Amino acid sequence: MKYQNEIQRRRTFAIISHPDAGKTTLTEKFLLFGGAIQVAGAVKSNKIKKHATSDFMEIERQRGISVATSVMSFEYESSLINLLDTPGHKDFAEDTYRTLTAVDSVILVVDSVNGVEEQTRRLMQVCRMRKTPVIVFINKMDRDGKNRFDLLEEIEKELSISLHPMTWPINSGKDFKGVYDLHNKGLRLFTPNTKATDEDTISVSDLSAGILDEKLGQKDADILREDVELVEGVYGSLEKEMYLSGEVAPVFFGSAINNFGVKEMLDTFIRIAPTPRSRETSTRFLNVHEDKFSGFIFKIHANLDPKHRDRIAFLRVCSGKFERNKYFHHVRLDKDVRFSNPYSFLAREKSVVEDAYPGDVVGLFDTGNFKIGDTLTEGEDFFFTGIPSFSPEIFKEVVNKDPMKTKQLEKGLLQLTDEGVAQLFTQFGGNKKIIGCVGELQFEVIQYRLLHEYGASVQFNTLPFYKACWLTSEDSKKMEDFARFKQANIAEDKDGHMVYLAQSEWFLNTERNNNPDITFHFTSEIH
Ligand code: G4P
Repeated sequence: MKYQNEIQRRRTFAIISHPDAGKTTLTEKFLLFGGAIQVAGAVKSNKIKKHATSDFMEIERQRGISVATSVMSFEYESSLINLLDTPGHKDFAEDTYRTLTAVDSVILVVDSVNGVEEQTRRLMQVCRMRKTPVIVFINKMDRDGKNRFDLLEEIEKELSISLHPMTWPINSGKDFKGVYDLHNKGLRLFTPNTKATDEDTISVSDLSAGILDEKLGQKDADILREDVELVEGVYGSLEKEMYLSGEVAPVFFGSAINNFGVKEMLDTFIRIAPTPRSRETSTRFLNVHEDKFSGFIFKIHANLDPKHRDRIAFLRVCSGKFERNKYFHHVRLDKDVRFSNPYSFLAREKSVVEDAYPGDVVGLFDTGNFKIGDTLTEGEDFFFTGIPSFSPEIFKEVVNKDPMKTKQLEKGLLQLTDEGVAQLFTQFGGNKKIIGCVGELQFEVIQYRLLHEYGASVQFNTLPFYKACWLTSEDSKKMEDFARFKQANIAEDKDGHMVYLAQSEWFLNTERNNNPDITFHFTSEIH
C-alpha cells in the first residue's frame, strides 16, 4: 500500500447530461471553486451547434476545444479531482461511453424543465451496466420546472435508479427561494444573479421554528415542513454503500448559472465519491493498491496539425506509479515503451508530468502504437475488461474515388478506427469495407480527415443495415454454416471477430430464433 495517501485523495469522475442541461456551466463552477480558472466564461462549450453538420471548420474547432478540455484536474480542499470531459453531441456518444470506463463516478445533470431526455437515458444505461455511482444535479431551478415530486418519480422510473434527495427546493422559477439542506439541516436562500454567500445559509435544526416563516413567508414555510416530512418518510437516510454500488443516487437541486447549490454538491462529492477503484482484468482482479503500475488507453486524439500524424493517447492509471522515461510493457504489442514527454492536465495547463497515480489521466504522444483498450503494465500480461464497443447505427460502404491512393486510404481507415472515430468491418468473402458509426456527423469527419490528413478521397454508399451483432457459438460448424448462408450479412470486425449485420429487428429476431446455438451480442468488448 505504498501509494495509499495519493490514492485516497483522488476523485476521478465525469459530468454527463443531455446537451443544454448545463454540463458546461456546472463544469465551470467546479473549476472556479477549484481555483483552476478565475473568471466565469473561461470554459468553452464543446457542443456542436445544430447547423454545424456541414461546417467542417466547426468540426475542427470542436476537436481543438475537446483536446483542451479533455481532462481538467484541480485541487479542492485536500482532494485532487480529475474531471473527464465527455462530448455532448449524440453523434459522438461512443466517445462518451468509453470515457465512462475511465471514471469512478459521475454527476448527472438533469434540466428541471425538460426532465429525462434521450441522451440522459442512454448515458445512464452505460452507468448502470458498469454500476457506476451517480450523483444527480437537478439544474435550472430558477425556471418554471416540473413538480419536484413528479420529476423525482420520472427520473427513478425512466433511469431505473433509486434517488435520495440531499437538498429540497422551495418553489421554482421566479418564486424559487432556495433549498433546504436535509443532511446539514440548513436553509440556503436564493437571490437571483447574486453570488450565494455564507450569510445566506441559516441553520434550522427545528423546522417548526419561527425563523422559517420569517425567511420564507408562512405559506412556503408550511409547504416546506410538509415536504420535508414526506421526503424523510419516503427516502429515509442515505446509505453510502448503496450509492457506491450504483443503486441509489443522491440528488441536489440548484442553478448552475447562478452558482447555487453547486458548492453543497461539491462538498458532498469529495466526502462520499469513490476513490480510484480496483478493476477486473482478463486474468485476475487487480487491486488499486498494488505497487506495480498498470493502466489503459481509453481515448485517442489526433493531432490538430494535419501535417503531423502523431496523436495523443489518454492513459488512465489503475495501479502503482506511472513514471516519465521508465519502460513499461505494452501488452498487445508485447514490447517495452517509455515516454519522455507525458503530460498532465493540472489547472488546465498541459505540463510535463514526472509521475502519476491511480485515478490520474496522462496524455502520451503516440505515433501509431496505441489503440483504444490497450494496456500498459510493468511486465505482466493482462488487459482490462469492460471496455465495450457498441453496435453502430448507421452503416456505409467506403468507395475509393482515387485508386492511386489506396494505400493511404487503408492506413487512414485503420488509424481513424484505432482512435475510435468509427468501427470498420470487412464483408465476408469479399473485401468491401464498411464503416459503422453512431451518427451522420462522424461520416463527415471521416471523409474530411481522410482527405486532409491522408490525401485519400472517398465517397460513402449507405447500406440497409440497422445493427451489428457480434456472434459467438460453442459449435464452430454451425457458425460456419450460418456465415455461408448469410454471406451478404456477415462481416469481420477489425479484430477478426464475426459480425452479423441485420437489416431490421424482424430479420434479427428471425435469425436468433432459427439459430439457437449462436449467441448474438449487442456489444463487443474490445480485444
Ligand atoms: P451543456 O454543456 O449541457 O450543453 O449546457 P450549457 O452549460 O452550455 O448550458 C445550456 C444553456 O443553459 C446555456 O444557455 C446556459 O447559460 C443555460 N443554463 C445553465 N444553467 C442554468 C441555470 O441554472 N438556469 C438557467 N435559467 N439557465 C441555465 P444558452 O443560452 O444556450 O447559452 P449561453 O449563450 O448562455 O452560453
